[in-house]
Amino acid sequence: MAEVNVSLGERSYTIYIGNALLSNYVENLPHKLNQQLLIITNPTISQYYLKPLLNTLSGHQIEIFEMRDGEQFKSLDSYAEAMDILINAGFNRDCGIIALGGGVVGDLAGFVASTFQRGVDSYQIPTTLLSQVDSSVGGKTAVNHPQGKNLIGTFYQPKSVVIDIDCLQTLTERDYRSGLAEIVKYGVIYDADFFQWLERHTAELNQQDPATLTYAIQRSCEIKAEVVALDEREKGLRALLNLGHTFGHAIEAATEYGAWTHGEAVAAGIIIASKLSEVTQRLNSSDFRRIKDLLLALGLPTKGPQMPWQDWLDYMQRDKKVKDGQLHFVLPVAIGQAEVVSTIEHDTVAAVITECC
Ligand SMILES: NC(=O)c1ccc[n+]([C@@H]2O[C@H](COP(=O)([O-])OP(=O)(O)OC[C@H]3O[C@@H](n4cnc5c(N)ncnc54)[C@H](O)[C@@H]3O)[C@@H](O)[C@H]2O)c1
Ligand SMILES: [Zn+2]
Repeated sequence: MAEVNVSLGERSYTIYIGNALLSNYVENLPHKLNQQLLIITNPTISQYYLKPLLNTLSGHQIEIFEMRDGEQFKSLDSYAEAMDILINAGFNRDCGIIALGGGVVGDLAGFVASTFQRGVDSYQIPTTLLSQVDSSVGGKTAVNHPQGKNLIGTFYQPKSVVIDIDCLQTLTERDYRSGLAEIVKYGVIYDADFFQWLERHTAELNQQDPATLTYAIQRSCEIKAEVVALDEREKGLRALLNLGHTFGHAIEAATEYGAWTHGEAVAAGIIIASKLSEVTQRLNSSDFRRIKDLLLALGLPTKGPQMPWQDWLDYMQRDKKVKDGQLHFVLPVAIGQAEVVSTIEHDTVAAVITECC
C-alpha cells in the first residue's frame, strides 16, 4: 500500500492507495470511525462495492443515501435529501459521512459533511480514476446550480482518502481514459520526470497494469497534495491545475455535458492550450509534439469539436475562472512547467482554436 500525506497543519490527512483496501476498510484506517455513519453512493457503484464496505462496518449506526447517478444530481435537491436522512435518523455532530463513488458523489458528500451541524467528519472512497487522482484530493466540495457547475460549495478537507484500485475494474473504458487525461495534466504542469515515465508506460496504462496504475495514481496525488498544501484556496499556484479546463469546460458546456466526458474535453483543451503556447513562442514544437503523442497513445482526443468562435468566447467567459472579464489561460511553457497568461489577443486564440478543432 502506498501513502501520500496532504500537509495542511491540523487539517492534514493521508491518502492510502492499493489493492483490496475496501474489504479491509476499517482495519486499514489509523483513526477510529464515528459511531453514526452516512454512506453516500449511487446504484451503479453500490451494486459492486457497498456490501464489501458494509461488511467491515459492524457495530455502527449506518444510514445509506443512494443518490441517482449523473452530474445533474449533484444538486441542491440531492443535498436536501441527504440532510433529511441525517436529521430524520437523529445524527449528531459526531457523525461521519463516507463518499463511496466518483467525483459527483464525492463533491456532494463533501458538501454535506462540511455543512451538516457546521461540519462533521468526511471520508472519501473514490471509485473512478478521475476522482482518485483529482476530485477526492484537495478539499473542494460542490453542488451545481441550474446556472452553472460547482457554483455552490466549500473548501473542506476529508479525514482520509482510501483509493482501492480494484474498483477501476468495473469502470467503463471511457471513464478510465478520462482519468488518464488528468494524470497527463500533472506531468505537463509540474513534473517532467513523471511525464517521461508516462511516455514509457503507455502500454501498461492502457492495460490497466496494477503496479503501473498504483504509481501513476500515487504520483498524481502527491503533485496535487503538494500544490494544494502551497495554495489551498487557489490564490495562485493551484490555478495551474486548470490546464486545459477553460477550453474543456467550453467543450463540455457546448455539447451539453453528454457527448464528451470531462477528461476527453480536458485532453482536447490541453492540446489547444499547448498550441496557443507554441504559437505565442512559449512552448517549443518538440514539447508540443510530445504532449500530443502522449495523449494519442492513451487513446484520448487531440482535436476539439467545431463551433463558432463567438460560442467559444461565450462559454469561456462564463467559466468562473475568468477574472475582471479577462480570459486567463494556463499555458505549458515546457514539459513540467506552466504559467497563467492573460495577455493573448482574441484573434490569436480564435486562430489556434480553428487549427485544433
Ligand atoms: N472537487 C474537485 O476538486 C473536483 C475535481 C475534478 C472534478 N470534480 C467533479 O467530479 C465530477 C466528475 O467525476 P467523475 O468523472 O468521477 O464522474 P462520476 O462521479 O459521474 O462517475 C462517472 C460514472 O462512473 C460510475 N462509477 C463510479 N465508480 C465506478 C466504478 N468503480 N465502476 C463502475 N462505474 C463507476 C458513476 O456512477 C458514473 O456513472 C464532476 O462533477 C466534477 O465537477 C471535482
Ligand atoms: Zn478536471
